[in-house]
Amino acid sequence: MKLALIGFGTVGQGLATILRDRGETLRGDYGFDGQIVAVSTARRGSLYDPNGLDIVALLENAQDFSGYPESEGLQRGWSTEQIIREGNADAVVEVTPTDITSGQPAIWHIQTALESGKHAISANKGPAALAFRDLNTLAKANGVEFYNEATVIGGTPAIRLGEELLAGSGITEMRGILNGTTNYMLTRMEGGATYMEALTEAQRLGYAETDPTADVEGHDAAAKVMILANVLMGGDLKNADVPRQGISALSLEEVQDALKNGEHYKLIGKVWREGGQTKASVELMRLPGSDPLAGVAGADMAITYSTDLMRHATISGAGAGAIPTGFALLSDLLAIHRKSHHA
Ligand code: HSE
Repeated sequence: MKLALIGFGTVGQGLATILRDRGETLRGDYGFDGQIVAVSTARRGSLYDPNGLDIVALLENAQDFSGYPESEGLQRGWSTEQIIREGNADAVVEVTPTDITSGQPAIWHIQTALESGKHAISANKGPAALAFRDLNTLAKANGVEFYNEATVIGGTPAIRLGEELLAGSGITEMRGILNGTTNYMLTRMEGGATYMEALTEAQRLGYAETDPTADVEGHDAAAKVMILANVLMGGDLKNADVPRQGISALSLEEVQDALKNGEHYKLIGKVWREGGQTKASVELMRLPGSDPLAGVAGADMAITYSTDLMRHATISGAGAGAIPTGFALLSDLLAIHRKSHHA
């Protein structure tokens, strides 16, 4: 499967690292041969080689493509649009920074890929949060897939769990910790770190968004509840439909006081049905130690699905950072690979 990566930051490099280190296993165990033919970035330019880029050299020169070795077929000047429209990729992997207000230019990248008959895989939260219905319809009309597993809890299979394994169970509510940066910060503040120390660490570890305001003010968690609502509950929520809180007003003293009482502050995203409508919210809550979400610590995240047929199911795990998110992209690529082989 030939891949064009639009964006090549933490997450794109995470996927490339996995393909570099596990390529042989993926070929042997699953018959999956993922080959990166293009990377396109806003600041570092682009590389396109229809015969496939050398992943080792690509990762070595990730910050400055000028050191990437010349080869027959290598193109350095192609625009993102040219790569998506005219390149030979089977799938376009959207890993540019999320703009949760407009969703652009990621929505346009995905739209262009789908119209060009290419699958689109996105770790960018804008498209699935703001334009899921239209893009999904466009994918179906063009006989290709639009997958978003990487957008909610990274490689911990939250979307596929809801969409495939809990299909038919009648999901009535999803409630979870959906932002790794803030959960990491809250855990570190419980250990005595200041807000700024904890934020700097979360940035260094690759958990935070390019602009971490999105994390600490709850925009990232709001985007994720919108994705859950849109993908799993047939909703069509807009930013303004989601009341939102962040953690920036929370003091170290409040966090420590809760802890002394056996309680934990958590940023909780919730999606539920009410009066035939899908509703969602993001709220900073002080949870008792007995709440299943209270013990989810560090950059881990979790979602509890409430269903008609079997009460609750909870999934918890890593969901931010290069490798967990890179793995989520791989899981989408493998899903497409499986589908095309069983078709
Ligand atoms: N900034 C996001 C988080 C990355 O901290 O959860 C994963 O979506």
